Amino acid sequence: MPADSKTKVTILRLRNHKKTGTKTVITTAYDYPQARIADGAEVDCILVGDSLGMTTLGHKTTIPVTMDQMISASEAVSRGAKNAFLIGDMPYMSYQISNEEAVENAGRFVRAGMDCVKVEGAMIDRIKAICDAGIMVMSHLGLTPHTRAKLGGYRVQGKTAAQAEIILEQALALQEAGCSFLLLEGMPRESAAMIASKLEIPVYGIGAGDKVDGQLVIFHDLMGLFWEFKSKFVKRYCEAGQIMQSALKEYAEEVRTGKFPAEENFYAIKEEELEKLLGGGNWKHDKVVYETDQGFPTNHSATPNTVTVKQKPDKEDQS
Ligand code: KIV
Repeated sequence: MPADSKTKVTILRLRNHKKTGTKTVITTAYDYPQARIADGAEVDCILVGDSLGMTTLGHKTTIPVTMDQMISASEAVSRGAKNAFLIGDMPYMSYQISNEEAVENAGRFVRAGMDCVKVEGAMIDRIKAICDAGIMVMSHLGLTPHTRAKLGGYRVQGKTAAQAEIILEQALALQEAGCSFLLLEGMPRESAAMIASKLEIPVYGIGAGDKVDGQLVIFHDLMGLFWEFKSKFVKRYCEAGQIMQSALKEYAEEVRTGKFPAEENFYAIKEEELEKLLGGGNWKHDKVVYETDQGFPTNHSATPNTVTVKQKPDKEDQS
């Protein structure tokens, strides 16, 4: 466990990681419980990724995700994460139209509790505008899902020396424009390593090998909560989907067999109220007779173990 792990992660700590060769750990979260879990596990950074569109909303791509959805998720994550450095992912068309819109939308993420925004691609002018507005930016190069059609689909990038050189040039220009971090997605480890070694800012990877300054794996991928496909670079650390499903099967079984709810789940009733309930004539129900062997839902030991609730007929029905 890092010595300073109980304090808020800042850019200073992340820069220091790069200096000291400490790997930075990043995952995604899209809601309050995921943020609590990730923060409690002391990951360094949480990305509120627009992968939310696929992992959480069931879309085929990230393209339909809106700013409002991202802001709502960011607010929930920032309520759940106390220490992790928080990154809000700017969704499709939230930064492409103009510098003004890009800055305004980046500002919404900061208001929602994010420390930084992530922007796909090498739109240097846009990204410089956000940086100049005092908002930290993580640039995202390599396989960039917003422009996947232009890339010819979800394809590994930087597979030739020439392609890797282009990505390096873009990365250097983004660093020059004021970016604080770079994320490389879907690249051979050697190409990513070359870029990470030439940049001063921390360079993280998702499917970009082990020679970068830190790793991002999507929460649902590492937890076993995403079933549509599994990328080569993903390692599953548990099968949470299966664990949850068997818990639900057990719950359903217990409800159907009357095992749940049980004594420890019942609220107590005072003895005198119980007398009124069971003994008095004014109650809506007739005296009840239990038909279960679960025991009476109080500590009323004198009460027989077999009771059935019979509804008193309504007046209209009494004719
Ligand atoms: O939305 C996301 O989670 C991302 C990662 C795939 C890099 O952008």
